[in-house]
Amino acid sequence: MARFIDELKRTHTCGELRLDDADSEVVLMGWVQRQRDRGGVVFVDLRDREGVTQVTFDKSVEEAAFEVGQRLRSEYVVAVRGRVRDRGDQRNDKIPTGAVEVIALEAEILNEAEPPTFPIQAEVNATEETRLAKRYLDLRRPTLQKNLRVRAKAYYETRNHFAENGFLEVETPYLVKYTPGGARNFLVPSRFHSGNFYALAESPQLFKQLLMIAGYDRYMQIVRCFRDEDLRGDRQPEFTQIDVEMSFVTQDDVFAICEGLIFRLWKNVLGVDLSERYPDGTFPRLRFAESMEKYGNDKPDLRFGLPHVDLTALVVEHGGAGIGMLEPLAAKFKDGTYRLDLPEEIVKAMRVPAEHALSRKQVDELEAYVKTMGAKGLGRAKVGDDGAWTQSPFAKQVTDEARAAINAAVGAEPGDLILLMFGEEQMVHTCMANLRVHLGKKLAMIPEVGTEGDDYNFLWVVDPPLFERGDEPGSWVAAHHLFTRPHDECVELIESDPGKVLCYRYDLVLNGVEVAGGSIRLHDSEVQSKVFRAIGLSDEEAQEKFSFLLDALRHGAPPHGGIAFGFDRLVMLMTDTESLRDVLAFPKTARGNDLMTGAPGAVDARQLADLKIQSTAKK
Ligand code: AMO
Repeated sequence: MARFIDELKRTHTCGELRLDDADSEVVLMGWVQRQRDRGGVVFVDLRDREGVTQVTFDKSVEEAAFEVGQRLRSEYVVAVRGRVRDRGDQRNDKIPTGAVEVIALEAEILNEAEPPTFPIQAEVNATEETRLAKRYLDLRRPTLQKNLRVRAKAYYETRNHFAENGFLEVETPYLVKYTPGGARNFLVPSRFHSGNFYALAESPQLFKQLLMIAGYDRYMQIVRCFRDEDLRGDRQPEFTQIDVEMSFVTQDDVFAICEGLIFRLWKNVLGVDLSERYPDGTFPRLRFAESMEKYGNDKPDLRFGLPHVDLTALVVEHGGAGIGMLEPLAAKFKDGTYRLDLPEEIVKAMRVPAEHALSRKQVDELEAYVKTMGAKGLGRAKVGDDGAWTQSPFAKQVTDEARAAINAAVGAEPGDLILLMFGEEQMVHTCMANLRVHLGKKLAMIPEVGTEGDDYNFLWVVDPPLFERGDEPGSWVAAHHLFTRPHDECVELIESDPGKVLCYRYDLVLNGVEVAGGSIRLHDSEVQSKVFRAIGLSDEEAQEKFSFLLDALRHGAPPHGGIAFGFDRLVMLMTDTESLRDVLAFPKTARGNDLMTGAPGAVDARQLADLKIQSTAKK
């Protein structure tokens, strides 16, 4: 029988001992953070995920334990029995256990360790590749431990919130039928049905709707989703959703449950009371159209200003404003090929207030920045005392009237800088939206986390269009998914003017990041057929694609709607980290690799033969 573990049980964690424990006998187990040999005394910082305690191996107290202490090296796993001693004025106020130390009476090395590849501390120089390849060491660092602890608390609070509100957690399958459209799926070959594939579920969307039809009102699930997308810092190929669906509800009901969840998470996990900022317990709402117009995207960061102003109508009205580059736009309007309600090309501006005085060089840098995203250039004009423009390629061209109208439209004051962009709508929106955030950061308009004015800015973005233009001229595709309910007053436009149809879809945005998205679903088969037809899908084709859902919708479907939170993104924002990788225990790289296990990897020929798949992978 082993002395430690079997006989001597751990009495405390390494973060637990306080002055009140002085003189008691304890057993600690953990990893050696640091060992300092001072002749007759060895000091060891012993660490586990709860904290660090100083253990002192004193030759004059217990020689055998002292000898073990001398042999300890970084990351050795060790067990110690000892007596807690008050450190008096030697106390270390930097750590919670710093008022005491443990004088070793007996010790055992439970396991030796190779020298760690990088030091186990908050800040390390090692590259992310090295850290991911040795993730078990990386996970010992306090930063990741804190993040995973927040994550664990967030699971707990989430489940309690939904349970207390009458929700039922139901699991749905990961291995599902492949349906085209939506995110790209990972495929899993079937051995029993060679040549056939499962898809890994990109979300439980269809299943949660089926659960509503089955009468399981108020469903929730903390669920893994799989998407074979191009990855960025805030995307992972497998990620976690808090998935929710409710019956007999309106959009407001869904919002209320979500707001309750966020308030609770912030309060119980972060200790932040959001009711100071949102006294009535609800988050503001912004219409999609206004969001696009003012911020160029549907997830604006409203912690700072710099709104955009759409100058398209104004420029057209002024026949191109005298600016050569804009004249074709006005001409198009004149000969009737251009419709203001359907802009193909637009002109947008942003006013940078005088106090931020940007140098010519800085504006050149901004221009270079937007060019990397496909913009042809960035127009600029410095506004003088009399409203005249200087430092502008358009200064000589622009007509006086148009200039006055533009100054008024953007609210320009003397000394301000107007930034202008002209081009294809989507490109202008993307460039101007990114430019706004870029400038917000550059001009320090966003307070740093933890500083005065630091804020959590929540926002619902509502009433987006149901359809967006497809690749073929005149074609339409569903902007979200095909089962989103249009506003009642828009139903008759589905056939005549699809671009104008708004729907009950919503996103929750926090500081410029989309943390949740959902919709009220379409449960009416007549309207559903109209939607299919608008995107060029016949009833037969639709039946073939979505047969089980359409069947189910004919068997007594309650009105229903729901939402899914990106759980990883939420935790990323709660812990103020930059990357999803820092809130996941075992994340993948931007290219989808697990650097520790080597996934994805080749499989042997025999397995492929079983699946009737031929290998093309390079050895
Ligand atoms: P959606 O596709 O908007 O909706 O996803 C919901 C939320 O999940 C997060 N998210 C991701 N997080 C990390 N990595 C990814 N690759 C990733 N993709 C999405 C986002 C997003 O807001 N079934 C619908 C929900 C519904 O309509 O009820 C759905 O999946 O934060």
